Amino acid sequence: MTYLPKAERYDAMKYNRCGKWGLKLPAVSLGLWHNFGGIDVFENGRSMMRRAFDLGITHFDLANNYGPPPGSAEENFGRILKKDFKPYRDELIISSKAGYLMWPGPYGEWGSRKYILASLDQSLKRMGLDYVDIFYSHRPDPETPLEETMMALDQAVRSGKALYIGLSNYPADMTRRAVYLLKELRTPCLIHQPRYSMFDRWVENDLLNTLEEEGIGCIPFSPLAQGLLTDRYLKGIPEGSRATRELFLTKEHVESAHGKIIKLNKIAQQRGQSLAQMALTWVLKDKRITSVLIGASSVKQIENNVEILKYQSFEKEELLQINEILKQ
Ligand SMILES: NC(=O)c1ccc[n+]([C@@H]2O[C@H](COP(=O)([O-])OP(=O)(O)OC[C@H]3O[C@@H](n4cnc5c(N)ncnc54)[C@H](OP(=O)(O)O)[C@@H]3O)[C@@H](O)[C@H]2O)c1
Repeated sequence: MTYLPKAERYDAMKYNRCGKWGLKLPAVSLGLWHNFGGIDVFENGRSMMRRAFDLGITHFDLANNYGPPPGSAEENFGRILKKDFKPYRDELIISSKAGYLMWPGPYGEWGSRKYILASLDQSLKRMGLDYVDIFYSHRPDPETPLEETMMALDQAVRSGKALYIGLSNYPADMTRRAVYLLKELRTPCLIHQPRYSMFDRWVENDLLNTLEEEGIGCIPFSPLAQGLLTDRYLKGIPEGSRATRELFLTKEHVESAHGKIIKLNKIAQQRGQSLAQMALTWVLKDKRITSVLIGASSVKQIENNVEILKYQSFEKEELLQINEILKQ
């Protein structure tokens, strides 16, 4: 059936500015790292994208290597775009990245100009796009000079294949140097994509201050700690959950977090929220955060997560209680 997006799709979502720049992102964005690959059910991914867009989610995040197999999430996304979203390209913010292993030999990963620009061309082809809105260096390369990687990103923008540039997984000091190089090239850095959740707070030390000083946005990935900060694992490891794949999230992760999850869930219940909703509200409480980049395996999860827009931030006492639990 032809997809007709809901006319009221922009009514409830909040759109936040990326640092000081002109681009706004929805408070909740959807990532396609899991559940959109060649091994997944295509129609489930398609339903999630349709529902997400109907709820005002305009930003979809990809990378060259998402799948499995690597590249298949971009291919499936391209198929969904062609079937359902062609008339709405200008309403979408699509990002991709290059940094992790994509093809054999010395040119298939990291941060050389050779790899970055070839990878972008491959991503565009897989998605059937002329350009991406945001193109990221997915991880810092300890061997390639930072200038070379930044010059490749600048080239991506100048060639019209990307509108904006982002950095992902760069520590604060390297971010500062990269931002300086990009300024010199006159292709400024729009946004940083770090991992950030109640369970992983490294960005609070230095990175968030750096981003604020430079007027750069921040879109944390895995804000639900891959599902740990939800009701998914309250009673063990359910069939079909990410932890059953034992790849990025393992039984050991679930076991070691279990005590905290139970306690955090109690606070969420007192607030009248699901644990997932509380974890997302917690990340978004910092005004330096532009958007939370969630993953999902069902339409229901997306609906549950977008509901956070209805909830209040935190009382001081609640934050203290949460900090106490996280310290244990
Ligand atoms: N830049 C990078 O290096 C990097 C790295 C990782 C991810 N990312 C990006 O960030 C995106 C999100 O990462 P993520 O998938 O790890 O994020 P996440 O939001 O922390 O975890 C998503 C998982 O949480 C569970 N979930 C979500 N909402 C739920 C709800 N309301 N109730 C119960 N369970 C719920 C689902 O698990 P089940 O699947 O078990 O149902 C879902 O797959 C990725 O798709 C990708 O775009 C970037």
